[in-house]
Amino acid sequence: MEKTKVAIVGLGTVGSGVASLLLDHGDRTARHAGRTLWLEKAVVRDLSKARDCNLPEGVLTDQLNDVLSDPEIKVVAQLMGGLEPARGVMLQLLEAGKDVVTANKALLAEHGPELFDRARALGRSIAFDAAVAGGIPIITNMSQCLSANQIGSIQGILNGTSNFIVCQMDELGWSYDAAVAEAQRLGYAEADPAMDVDGSDAAQKLAILSHLAFGARIRWNDIPKTGIDTLELTDLNFAKELGYRIKLISHAELGAEGLELSVAPTLIRMGRPLAEVRANYNAINVVGDAVGDLFFHGQGAGQMPTASAVVADMIDTAVGRTPITFRTLELWSERESAVKIRPV
Ligand code: NDP
Ligand code: HSE
Repeated sequence: MEKTKVAIVGLGTVGSGVASLLLDHGDRTARHAGRTLWLEKAVVRDLSKARDCNLPEGVLTDQLNDVLSDPEIKVVAQLMGGLEPARGVMLQLLEAGKDVVTANKALLAEHGPELFDRARALGRSIAFDAAVAGGIPIITNMSQCLSANQIGSIQGILNGTSNFIVCQMDELGWSYDAAVAEAQRLGYAEADPAMDVDGSDAAQKLAILSHLAFGARIRWNDIPKTGIDTLELTDLNFAKELGYRIKLISHAELGAEGLELSVAPTLIRMGRPLAEVRANYNAINVVGDAVGDLFFHGQGAGQMPTASAVVADMIDTAVGRTPITFRTLELWSERESAVKIRPV
């Protein structure tokens, strides 16, 4: 069986899940890729830290150069969080001729145009299905399967941590602090959970989705946002008495005057699909002019759902069917957009 050597940079919650899938289920990649994805290196900061996966001898390293200097490593999953050094590492990987897969939405929302322009100039690809809604294949659907549509609206729950916190408070009466701590323990939260609870993470994901759906570069910081960090248990209880749940809803709608975007805690009537989304799950309602209404639902945060999306992108990249093709890279370049963004 032919082998494609791959590497991982960042072996935390997601990276360890990716390593486990590659090491324990090579048969799946062989079945879908017609070749084995061979984990050659996993780069970390701290070699002494215990890892959540069993790596063969010689795989773990703290030297990025072990990956950069090996021409046989073709595909790299870049799974560090934050902006720097993640941006610098991504550029180094592209310059070294690697195709990159990432789950880092903060990096793409902030530096997407620069990274995609560089990738295009170098003839490389960046795949990022895991960056929005974890295990739900929303990026592939938006950029490929729905390309015959004019998307009219996107409405959904895009942050698993916030949804988990609200559910634990609403349904089990947990305190806010206890729910945040549990979301961290379960690996749902960002390294800085403030990004989850203040709506930043959801705004970054909405910016990425909107970019693909509407062809407009949206600066995530321009999206009006309110997080769940302002909610009290009494708000949730009061909503419940009236027959509603409060959910952190990300919304983009194309109207006559432009694109309206927002991230905010929103009352949703009980029984409606978005009101019934539980725990770390995400859900996205997309309306296209040809396809009509679509509803995507699945685990939006957590180790294995996210690893599922990353490894699928690695397989697609290895066999040259990267979902994010040059068409999408073009879309990501910095250019004047025809869509006027009108904040709500
Ligand atoms: P973690 O904090 O668990 O892991 C980050 C990893 O990056 C750690 O292994 C860390 O190394 C490594 N790292 C950080 N800086 C460096 C460096 N300079 N050189 C080498 N390695 C470095 O994060 P997650 O796995 O949770 O998240 C990774 C990315 O995936 C983030 O961008 C996140 O937003 C995104 N994501 C996360 C999801 C989730 O459910 N957790 C879901 C979807 C996306 P060390 O261990 O040695 O400190
Ligand atoms: N912290 C993020 C969330 C991880 O809770 O949704 C998935 O992107």
